[in-house]
Amino acid sequence: MDNSTPILFTLSKDSRAPFKAPENKINSYVLENIIDNKYLRYKDAELPQVSESQVVRHFTNLSVKNHHVDKNFYPLGSCTMKYNPKINDKIAMLSNFAQIHPNQIDEKSIQGILEVYYNLGKYLCEITGMHKVTLQPSAGSQGELVGLLLMKKYHEMNNNKDKKYIIIPKTAHGTNPASVIMSGYLVKQVQSDERGRVCIKHLKELVDNETAGMMLTQPNTLGLFEDNIDEICSMIHSVDGLMYMDGANLNALVGMVNPSKMGFDITHINLHKTFSTPHGGGGPGAGPVAVNQKLSNYLPTPIVECDESVFYFKDLEHSIGKVHTFFGNYGVLLRAYVYILSLGKEGLKEVSQKALLNANYLKTLLMEFYDVPYSEGTMHEFVISAEKQKKKGMKAFDIAKNLLDFGFHSPTVYFPINIPESIMIEPTETETKETLDLFCEKMKYLNDNIAQKLEYFKDAPHHTPIRKLDEAKANRELDVKWNGNNK
Ligand SMILES: Cc1ncc(COP(=O)(O)O)c(C=O)c1O
Repeated sequence: MDNSTPILFTLSKDSRAPFKAPENKINSYVLENIIDNKYLRYKDAELPQVSESQVVRHFTNLSVKNHHVDKNFYPLGSCTMKYNPKINDKIAMLSNFAQIHPNQIDEKSIQGILEVYYNLGKYLCEITGMHKVTLQPSAGSQGELVGLLLMKKYHEMNNNKDKKYIIIPKTAHGTNPASVIMSGYLVKQVQSDERGRVCIKHLKELVDNETAGMMLTQPNTLGLFEDNIDEICSMIHSVDGLMYMDGANLNALVGMVNPSKMGFDITHINLHKTFSTPHGGGGPGAGPVAVNQKLSNYLPTPIVECDESVFYFKDLEHSIGKVHTFFGNYGVLLRAYVYILSLGKEGLKEVSQKALLNANYLKTLLMEFYDVPYSEGTMHEFVISAEKQKKKGMKAFDIAKNLLDFGFHSPTVYFPINIPESIMIEPTETETKETLDLFCEKMKYLNDNIAQKLEYFKDAPHHTPIRKLDEAKANRELDVKWNGNNK
């Protein structure tokens, strides 16, 4: 495929545009008195002169250059690319929702919007078993920071002066230690045991009066349920520490068990991972944080309350403050709300059960030719190791690149770090058996043909718009600006 897609301006030819812009109908008083002159344009906009069909083809072709979940299987472990039902977008685009101005803060005029905030908060509390929620954080990672600031506030309010450390497992997502440092605490790392869960013996050695709390992903980043959760929570609570659930993997639990029942005090929820909101390109996203009663008064302000069917903003005296402009990413929150309403309680539970079923089915197929170091108790995702394949010359990285040639997105590789040559796979609940079988067939093909095709495999991808990148350079010298001759 040609990788030097022109931009529309390069297709422009004088007088080709069939589109005539309507005459400016904005009243001259507005132009002269309300909008500052410096914002007004005095000559025609330099729009590309292209035909309608050129525009349609241009954007249609662009839309399939990158991989996305509407195009094909996207088994990205940890960062879940879940299908985004189109009804979410359809409803979020209704003009009564889409055309509200962020500065329209007169409560009487936005009762419908406030009702969505209020009800979504209520549902998230029901799902997590928590008491109150903030919808402001714009990602799971910001939710983590908010959760840790809430912990800090709790310790300040309770005069717990010795608190210094947050304990996190060695397998934690990278955002966990980063959030701890940003919140002003220090990290203590707990080892995993031979079953891939928190090592209780090591945890006992770490917990003391300086423990402010623990962040634990449940199920953990190996896709395994932390089944010693009761003991872990009591250990942390015994020193008045708080338990934070990294709820990024809540999609494995909904309707079956909730964070509060397990003993957690705080959890964030990645709406894109559990509640099907769009993700990618850095956002906007949403990572609501739900807390139990003892932390409710410290939540970011304002929250939305309801009194006799009237919805209103409420400030909290001991709040940690505002963490987002306006009230969070409303369009994303609304999509999650639609998803929850359209599935209902039983539907949400079924989604989690199917996510578990698909992951366990695929794992069982792949186990025939790939190692799965921690395979007991897989939930919604699993981690295989390509250590055996690497000995024959084919690394996890090469497998990931070859999957692109089969039209699949690569799974997450080299995370978690405690598994050599790790490949983390999350099929999600919406994939058919046929897709899972096909993925497995291609994984088997790669394994079976290492000896015959190693050179070809090492050179993959062969069929993507852009071939293999220098990943370090692409990461550190990102250049996405068109300068007239980009390829
Ligand atoms: C376990 C875990 N924690 C935290 C995060 C961070 O979430 P976000 O990407 O919304 O910032 C992720 C991301 O997928 C994750 O997998």
